[in-house]
Amino acid sequence: MDQASIGEVLISSDDLERRVRELGTEISRDYRDKDLVMVGVLRGAVVFIADLLRSLEVPCEIDFMAVSSYGSSRDSSGVVRILKDLDDPITGRDVLIVEDIVDSGLTLNYLMRNLRARDPSSIEVCSLLTKPERRRVDIPIRYTGFEIPNTFVVGYGLDFAQRYRNLDYVAVLPEDTVPTL
Ligand code: IMP
Ligand code: MG
Repeated sequence: MDQASIGEVLISSDDLERRVRELGTEISRDYRDKDLVMVGVLRGAVVFIADLLRSLEVPCEIDFMAVSSYGSSRDSSGVVRILKDLDDPITGRDVLIVEDIVDSGLTLNYLMRNLRARDPSSIEVCSLLTKPERRRVDIPIRYTGFEIPNTFVVGYGLDFAQRYRNLDYVAVLPEDTVPTL
């Protein structure tokens, strides 16, 4: 499918930029005297974390995890596998998990349990998007960019079959889109 034919724009580039800056200000205020390590969840959170990082006014480090959840490209199964673990220990540190979107919440639920077991001093979540209607487990999200309706979205890091991550806005994926080779 042609990039130009992707569905309706849900969140414009300007709105994303403004909201990410606000989140950066809020996080900077909350983590002034902390030992912040932002954990980006690959690959969807890459664009968001790159912008968020540059809006922070406090010292911070970043690290990444890659997880795969078994299931189709539109639905998460809750069975999560770690494909890439953190490079550094987080014991005693203030961890902020940075996600692109919380849908069922199953991936994040697993991640939080896994990271909590490593004894960080604190652990919070910052997600660009959330779909409250789809939630299957209750996840405390400390920082949320936007609440969106129950639709599948792409762009600004989010993909469908690995495509559309490069869009600088968030768009609704038309229901009938099929993965292209
Ligand atoms: P969850 O485990 O159901 O919360 O799913 C989380 C993961 O599914 C996210 O990190 C995304 O990678 C993916 N995902 C969920 N909804 C969407 C969407 O609307 N567009 C693109 N990816 C999505
Ligand atoms: Mg993801």
